[in-house]
Amino acid sequence: MAGSGFKISFGLMKKWIQDFTVIENITLNSEYFELIVSPSDPLPEVLPGQFAAIRVDHSPGTFLRRPISIYDTDYQKNTLSFLIQVVGEGTKKLSGLRKSDTLNLIYPLGNTFDTAGVRKPLLIGGGIGIAPLLFLGNHLKDKGLKPVFILGFRHAGLLVDLSPFRKYGEVYLTTDDGSAGERGLVLDHSILRRHKFDFDMIYTCGPEVMMKAVAEFALDRGIQSQVSLENTMACGFGACLCCVQKTRQGNKIVCTEGPVFNSRELVWQI
Ligand SMILES: Cc1cc2nc3c(=O)[nH]c(=O)nc-3n(C[C@H](O)[C@H](O)[C@H](O)COP(=O)(O)OP(=O)(O)OC[C@H]3O[C@@H](n4cnc5c(N)ncnc54)[C@H](O)[C@@H]3O)c2cc1C
Ligand code: FES
Repeated sequence: MAGSGFKISFGLMKKWIQDFTVIENITLNSEYFELIVSPSDPLPEVLPGQFAAIRVDHSPGTFLRRPISIYDTDYQKNTLSFLIQVVGEGTKKLSGLRKSDTLNLIYPLGNTFDTAGVRKPLLIGGGIGIAPLLFLGNHLKDKGLKPVFILGFRHAGLLVDLSPFRKYGEVYLTTDDGSAGERGLVLDHSILRRHKFDFDMIYTCGPEVMMKAVAEFALDRGIQSQVSLENTMACGFGACLCCVQKTRQGNKIVCTEGPVFNSRELVWQI
């Protein structure tokens, strides 16, 4: 039954297991789609950086829920949205959902981006890693800040509608082959040379090699940075330890202690 749900606790954290109704499933390009869903009860507080564990129904090969970042929330419309890239059976199945179908979520999982004291944020996303940055931009704008986004894609064919990002801040674009925006990788964008560079926090999500480069870029400039990791997960609530990440303080569980980390804490494995 759409909208039914109950609260569970993992330690101190209150989570919901709840059915949502699909409001819209929008195909954005050959790989990405946006799923907009709504519960029948009012949404609880959801924070940028958090994710949902999505059950993939009618798919025997995808017994485990799939972790997907919250792309945005609209409390007035009582909706959550997800930006999803089709990579395997689970995401392919989700891409076939239609209006009025039911989707079961455990949410909100994980920690959040720390925005305390930030004055000038730079948000750098690559590919599907742009997903958690939209909701973060929404939150930063609500705090009266003006986020700057640099978003990178492999080529123009993988672009998504960037107008939601433009609602929250300035958007600069790169593609590897120059087919849209500036040619090159996100850190090649000329805005980084033209800007007087008074950013005091960089938030990033994307391929690990990109996040590592962004973390080094921030460190070289004495700026703090936070990364949102997408380690492969199974349980999503700290029980199986399959998502552990090496840090300077030992191994950390990404699904409960992350997915957002101060980049200086991380011991990169690449
Ligand atoms: C915290 C978190 C947030 C995420 N947010 C999003 C999001 O907003 N949008 C989105 O599209 N995806 C997101 N992902 C990745 C997403 O969970 C996987 O792509 C998805 O689970 C793959 O399921 P599948 O059944 O389609 O593919 P599978 O058949 O399980 O896998 C297909 C291929 O994708 C690879 N893969 C599986 N999981 C991951 C992963 N976590 N990272 C990289 N490669 C993976 C597999 O190794 C395999 O090669 C997130 C992952 C995490 C951990
Ligand atoms: S996914 Fe099981 S502990 Fe993180």
